[in-house]
Amino acid sequence: MNILRENRDDLSSTTLHMQTRGVEETVMLGNRIGALLQPSDVIALIGQLGAGKTHLVKGIAEGVGIKDRSVVTSPSYILMNHYRGKLPIYHFDAYRLESPEEMYDIDCMEFFWGDGVSVIEWADKIMECLPDEHINITMETINNTTRDILISYSGERHKDFMKGLRVMLSA
Ligand SMILES: Nc1ncnc2c1ncn2[C@@H]1O[C@H](COP(=O)(O)OP(=O)(O)OP(=O)(O)O)[C@@H](O)[C@H]1O
Ligand SMILES: [Mg+2]
Repeated sequence: MNILRENRDDLSSTTLHMQTRGVEETVMLGNRIGALLQPSDVIALIGQLGAGKTHLVKGIAEGVGIKDRSVVTSPSYILMNHYRGKLPIYHFDAYRLESPEEMYDIDCMEFFWGDGVSVIEWADKIMECLPDEHINITMETINNTTRDILISYSGERHKDFMKGLRVMLSA
């Protein structure tokens, strides 16, 4: 994996910028993210159609301990899929939502603050529903196989997550 535009020595930086080349690298990045997640972590995924959000979630779910990544599919029509890894995984897809109210209608806070981890595709459509402290991941298509990925967070809560991820990616 090729980490771009960041100072590898700066363990306190709040952003991590990289590119993946091919699906397997994206899944592998997800594996590492998933392995570091804690109960009530919330990940906002932002990126256009086909940017690779669902493939990243497949990797995250594997990292949280699910055995078969093929169970992970975009829950566009039903809004949320629930997988059971070492922690529950709540996989949302806000693509078809017309307003954030529809997230509140399904009591999203119960999931966000619950005992599992939440991952939300098209999170930019429902930003106001998210807890203040969450992890942001934006994905951008560069070409057929390359995706530009920016990971960031706000607040104190995810400092150790980012440090851990930086260490895992440079190992
Ligand atoms: N580096 C890469 N990472 C992830 N996917 C890639 C990569 N290179 C090519 N792809 C392809 O891009 C597509 C990504 O599909 P995926 O369903 O993960 O996107 P998505 O962002 O979830 O789209 P949607 O908004 O429709 O839910 C797949 O066809 C995959 O094979
Ligand atoms: Mg998707």
